[in-house]
Amino acid sequence: MASIYDRADIYDLIEDDSRREIYRKHWETIGNGRNIKSLLDISIGSGNVTLPAADLGVRLSGSDLSKAMLERCQKKAEAGKIDIELKCCDFRSVSGQFAEKFDCVASTGNSLPYVNNEEVLLTMEQMDQLVKKACK
Ligand SMILES: C[S@@+](CC[C@H](N)C(=O)[O-])C[C@H]1O[C@@H](n2cnc3c(N)ncnc32)[C@H](O)[C@@H]1O
Repeated sequence: MASIYDRADIYDLIEDDSRREIYRKHWETIGNGRNIKSLLDISIGSGNVTLPAADLGVRLSGSDLSKAMLERCQKKAEAGKIDIELKCCDFRSVSGQFAEKFDCVASTGNSLPYVNNEEVLLTMEQMDQLVKKACK
């Protein structure tokens, strides 16, 4: 079935520099006093929310169900000279997809409501498995 996320170029039309700055400040607030060096976003999409965290020296990883969104995210990362590890997977089974653990694991952009309440809980357990013990 076709999805808005197949057209990541259209999805991104809403983005501009002012929103990028809002996201950068968001990560600054989240990171305040927490020393976050690595961040995984399990619904990274085209990276609008997450890529600005690179400005703070955070190493980025991301996953998403949509190949088109991930391809656009990769292109934007390359244009901004940002190193990022990206995987195409369902967040309900994300824990097996990454070998390392992260200081922070997020799901940005109101993406968890794509699954039912039981699966939200399952996904949060998956996220928890990917967080470094020292950061819990
Ligand atoms: C509203 S977009 C948010 C994208 C990005 N985080 C942002 O804020 O721009 C929702 C994203 O969730 C992804 N998504 C939906 N269901 C998913 C699932 N079960 N596993 C992984 N990603 C999923 C979609 O492919 C889409 O990229």
